Amino acid sequence: MAAEAKTTPAVPDLPPLSRREFLNYAWLASLGFVFVVGFGGTAYFFAFPRFKAGEFGGVFPLGKAGDVLPKPNDPPVHNQAGKFWLANINGLIVALYDVCVHLGCLYEWQAVSGRFECPCHGSKYNRDGSYVEGPAPRSLDRMAISFVANGQPVAATDAQANPLPVPEGEVQVLVDTGKIVQGDPHG
Ligand code: FES
Repeated sequence: MAAEAKTTPAVPDLPPLSRREFLNYAWLASLGFVFVVGFGGTAYFFAFPRFKAGEFGGVFPLGKAGDVLPKPNDPPVHNQAGKFWLANINGLIVALYDVCVHLGCLYEWQAVSGRFECPCHGSKYNRDGSYVEGPAPRSLDRMAISFVANGQPVAATDAQANPLPVPEGEVQVLVDTGKIVQGDPHG
């Protein structure tokens, strides 16, 4: 049997690209590349948080409220890794960024005066972080707190991260060290 002759499909003759057309296509391709990289990068940024849980800049899961929060009139509790103080003001809880808002020294709780005091230039703040005296331009900065029960959020601080009550029942405490709210300026 005679072998069938192979036929190659005819390729239509295309006119060669002009220099202008080539540059237009190259420009469109590069624009598409920039769009894909930019969009992909943004999606990646939002899909994967930059900070891990328990790392400053991320969320700190602290445990059961009853175990980790100070009671009314207890001294505030310092969390060194998270760089915040937890204070109880007559049953309301606040998380205070532990850096003095004057020039960035670390202030301390002073049991004798019942205030936070900065050793550098003497700024003083109340238990809730509000400004008392000294060169600090504003009250202490706050961090967002949320309470979770059975994996569901049950309460959270408002946009100013104001002190909030602890919900009833067994709740877990989370402090978001990536959400720092500036204290109010004074006079
Ligand atoms: S850094 Fe705290 S008073 Fe100056």
